[in-house]
Amino acid sequence: MRPEQDDIARLGGARSEIGEQALRQFREAVLEHYRQHGRDLPWRSTRDPYAILVSEVMLQQTQVSRVVPKYEEFLRAFPTVQALADAPLAEVLRVWSGLGYNRRAKALHEAARKILEEHGGTVPCSYAELRMLPGVGHATAAQVLAFAYGVPVPYLETNIRAALIHWFFPGREAVTDRELMPLAEAVLDREDPRVWHYAIMDYGAALKRRVPNPSRRSAHHAKQKPFAGSMREARGAVLRVLARRERASVEEIAVESGIHARRIRAAAAALVREGLVVRAGRGWRLAR
Ligand code: ADE
Repeated sequence: MRPEQDDIARLGGARSEIGEQALRQFREAVLEHYRQHGRDLPWRSTRDPYAILVSEVMLQQTQVSRVVPKYEEFLRAFPTVQALADAPLAEVLRVWSGLGYNRRAKALHEAARKILEEHGGTVPCSYAELRMLPGVGHATAAQVLAFAYGVPVPYLETNIRAALIHWFFPGREAVTDRELMPLAEAVLDREDPRVWHYAIMDYGAALKRRVPNPSRRSAHHAKQKPFAGSMREARGAVLRVLARRERASVEEIAVESGIHARRIRAAAAALVREGLVVRAGRGWRLAR
């Protein structure tokens, strides 16, 4: 964790350069916004670390409005670590279908099995153990720690970047995470990291609706490529068709999805390499 340690070491610099007063004003603006406009999202009314892990993996690359119904459906289908670990992968992919970035579903399924085998079915409460779970990066580990266990660990995600860049880097382009991390650490409320992180994410999300997206000025910002014509679209089509039937051929998937057979074949080959799909006769089926 070299870069983060370096960043934390630079924190003293962030504090003196920016000043306690500016940090305090930011905190107050964020918390005031939260008191008036805080979002009431389903994963915010639980402290079940499993439910929180599910929500944060879904939120990694998907908008809140699309996650809400899937989160509820997923927890109805797999209410516990044990239920998810016991389910066949094909069933998990069926429920996940429509959210996109389906590798996350496979990783979450593997994480549940690992939690069951290595942690007796309880999502671990240490940063190092969380990071050993498939699909859990720095931000997701920090979110589980904050929201389930009340442990403060600074992290960045798109809305937090937007909030910090808007407030502390007006007019600057290509702001790096290296510059933002010491600030995320300096503003973090160690007494209540749960409410703090809800508040700063809501502040950033609201900003994006008001000003030309401030996270665009993040060096880390990756503009999502058009969906139409993408590999993501073809992969989604293969999984959606296979979720509905036992197996299907290239031609069947191509006809049903309206996507050219050549693209379907390439998408299916990638899904086979990743273990989400397996060959079945002349076609494919979801991996079990
Ligand atoms: N609330 C809890 N986690 C969140 C996230 N990742 N994005 C938006 N709101 C959240």
